[in-house]
Amino acid sequence: MKEEIKKHLENAITSYHHYYASGKLAAYIPALLEANPKAIGACILDKEGHWYCAGDYEKRFTIQSISKIVTLALAIMDNGEESVFSKMGYEPTGDSFNSLVRMEINRVPKPYNPMINAGAIVVTSMIKGEDNNEKLERIIDFFKRLTSNEELSIDGKVYLSEKETGHRNRALAYYMKEVGILSLDVEDVLDLYFQQCSILVNCQDLAKIAMVFANDGVDINTGEELVPKYIARKIRTIMVTCGMYDASGSFAVRVGLPAKSGVGGGIIALSPKKLGIGLYGPALDDKGNSIVGMKVLEELSRKLDLSIF
Ligand code: DON
Repeated sequence: MKEEIKKHLENAITSYHHYYASGKLAAYIPALLEANPKAIGACILDKEGHWYCAGDYEKRFTIQSISKIVTLALAIMDNGEESVFSKMGYEPTGDSFNSLVRMEINRVPKPYNPMINAGAIVVTSMIKGEDNNEKLERIIDFFKRLTSNEELSIDGKVYLSEKETGHRNRALAYYMKEVGILSLDVEDVLDLYFQQCSILVNCQDLAKIAMVFANDGVDINTGEELVPKYIARKIRTIMVTCGMYDASGSFAVRVGLPAKSGVGGGIIALSPKKLGIGLYGPALDDKGNSIVGMKVLEELSRKLDLSIF
């Protein structure tokens, strides 16, 4: 298996690299336009602790929406599942990640799920702490534990860029404040959310996080339970149903793995009990998912027979 993983990872990266040309960098957060659209990197970590990495796997980028699985785990650990899901649902939407439309049209007074922006903003508002500083410290500390990377930090430029231009998220948050889903100050919650999205990671960090969720919440190196097993299982399930937004259905058919994307170009994916996977390719498809990352995952799933279905 070891040789197989190495061979297929390297082949997939080489064969699908050219797809970057049909993708686009995320432009609605202007600082993300500074990424190199040709970059592509990937890391796979197996349960025995072996690493398989290729391409620009050490390149750091902002985690963006991939952070939503981590804050969801922390919010459930802080508040319990019942409390978190009293404010949002478990259902996929079929709409884009920042869509406003469904909450009002369907008269559903809460976000459909915690992976779309509306749900994720509510999740962030539920992280415990005296003030935003303490909440951010708790979020980053949790990330450090999941990645075993003490050096994690925030990209100040991307954070400020989104803070300046994130008016759609403001619209979502003010709407939720009006209907009573958000109780805290909107700008405070968004500030924390924008910082959480601007945490810098590389493919190794993502593969480590993926491995924790793949391994029922237990760190493969220390044996420590970082996330309770029942929460890890729920996160894996929500990754399958909602992780790739309105591409979650086709992704399940074509790849068949729990996964989560971010507009920084990252994708995290996992093979339960076996592999943690982190990919980077900042050129995105029209749904906001890394175009090369999707292709590489599809190929790896086929070649290594990874689909959970
Ligand atoms: O809130 C936003 O729009 C961004 N900070 C994150 C969105 C994102 O990553 C969507 N994923 N593909």
